[in-house]
Amino acid sequence: MPTPSNPLKAVRGTRDLLPPETALWNRVESIARSVFSRYGFGEIRTPIFEDTSLFARGVGEETDIVSKEMYTWLDGDRFNEKRLIDEWVKANQSDNPAYVQAGRVNIQGYPSIQAKLKEMGIQIVQRGIEVAPNILRNQVELVSFRPGVSADAIDRLMKARDLAKSDPESQVQHGAVGLRIVIPIDGELGASIDTKDVIVERLAGRFFDFSQNLTLRPENTAGVVRAYIEHNLGDTGQLQKLFYIGPQFRRERPQRGRYRQFWQIGAEVLGPVTSGSESPLRDAEVLEMLATLLDELGIKCWRLELNSVGSAEDRKRYVAILRDALAPIKHQLCEDNQRRAETNPLRVLDSKDPADQALIDGLPKIADYLDDSSREHFAQVCAALDACGVPYVINPRLVRGLDYYTRTTFEFTVPSSGDPASGLGTQNALLGGGRYDGLSEMLGGPRAPGIGFAIGEDRLILTLQAQSAAQALEPRTSDLEPVKLDAYIAPLGPERNAAALALARELRRAGLSVEVGDGTFRLKKSFEAADRVARHIVILGEDELASGVLTVKTFATGEQTKIAQADLAQALRT
Ligand code: HAM
Repeated sequence: MPTPSNPLKAVRGTRDLLPPETALWNRVESIARSVFSRYGFGEIRTPIFEDTSLFARGVGEETDIVSKEMYTWLDGDRFNEKRLIDEWVKANQSDNPAYVQAGRVNIQGYPSIQAKLKEMGIQIVQRGIEVAPNILRNQVELVSFRPGVSADAIDRLMKARDLAKSDPESQVQHGAVGLRIVIPIDGELGASIDTKDVIVERLAGRFFDFSQNLTLRPENTAGVVRAYIEHNLGDTGQLQKLFYIGPQFRRERPQRGRYRQFWQIGAEVLGPVTSGSESPLRDAEVLEMLATLLDELGIKCWRLELNSVGSAEDRKRYVAILRDALAPIKHQLCEDNQRRAETNPLRVLDSKDPADQALIDGLPKIADYLDDSSREHFAQVCAALDACGVPYVINPRLVRGLDYYTRTTFEFTVPSSGDPASGLGTQNALLGGGRYDGLSEMLGGPRAPGIGFAIGEDRLILTLQAQSAAQALEPRTSDLEPVKLDAYIAPLGPERNAAALALARELRRAGLSVEVGDGTFRLKKSFEAADRVARHIVILGEDELASGVLTVKTFATGEQTKIAQADLAQALRT
């Protein structure tokens, strides 16, 4: 039970973003949007949860993300009403539609009310009741087929009975009407439900559809490619340039710069080969755009690390060689790397374990196993970056933690832990990305090579904050300071509250930012509150209301003036 000394808190690894910090987030996002629009990107918003198999297939079963970090659940069994009705009817229906045998039912008749009842989720049937040996009487019965018994289901049956009895055309006006709820055998009968004169019948069978396996998205590339396939975006023949801003979820060990709900600003460029989606120019353009974005955001000391992991075939070849090279030294590696050496040897390369670094550096480099076309592709990416003057370093170990990558992979980092310019602790990758030429096919789509990236927005913000603090810069924004409102309206006495709100409405509609105090505040308290949040205080007392001339004080100058209400908006604005 939460108590005042132990109140409920945000879940570990999640956090609230509050003003004024959210203003910085908005500024970052608006700069990103502005850059994206200059490079011809449009926004895509995909669902926050997807079918689990999307990530298993796209990101890769053996990756850390899929094997350990996803928030996955079986979405509740879905009740199949039609199946329950069909089975029940099969078990109960009379063979002879004209004659209802004892206990058997006959579903027909009462067209005048049947439709209305169906809308309420209720079926109308006739049942043969044996009132004396061999004497049958037909009774009308209203039946609701549900996954369980609820007060609502009972209420609806009662209402249906009133409806049936009041319908002049139905033949049930005078007779008895039975009420029945049919539930699956494992349906729950709530203990506190008063079933009144409702019969609850249980029927054995499978009346729940197989539930769906769902996952909170741990990243957005797979979702974007799924949407590309689902909406046949490839049919346009055009290169699709899509960006997104939104939360992602990974069950990682929380620490500074690493959260379980974090935000990404990302973009993807993909399309049919004929749209130029495979061109090294696209890779260079994306990287050049990122360099521009980080510069415009004011990020200092960023470093672009670049590599090529080759085609799918290159990777297969290289992984076999890597496996062989790891075999004799595996036992010297840490436990995690021993496991990776077995399941996903590429992951050993991006291990951060300090004790293993020397051994890993000695492993074969993927660059030596690229085929000619991958090598040429990478050379062209580097040449285009050189031509644009975007600096980079080649990191042969940069293979990235998701399985869909082919050819170009990259990360932008800022100096790591201990360096005040980072603000990220040990998490120094601001963003990561790469090419994924086979992802669309892996998800059952057409060939659609692509390249993209995702910026960790939380890390970007931490870096901006650390960099401006470390270099004693004014935080680049007035964003970090609360922005002062144009006016604070102070009603004198609660009876002036309504007029204060009306005045605020008038000013706000004229485009001004306004806060309204409360008539119970003493004047001194109103002045203090107003000085904190606004540039002017507008006093609304009895005289002001009667005369329509208001008293306004400007805090910056200390000046106090009388202004007619009609001129107020203009005066406050200047
Ligand atoms: P990723 O490297 O897994 O790539 O994530 C991209 C960025 O998201 C990381 O560089 C980091 O800044 C941020 N990030 C990841 N996990 C966390 C976390 N737990 N807390 C805070 N920030 C985090 C992808 O997600 C790919 N979808 C990128 C991509 C797009 N590749 C091609 N297109």
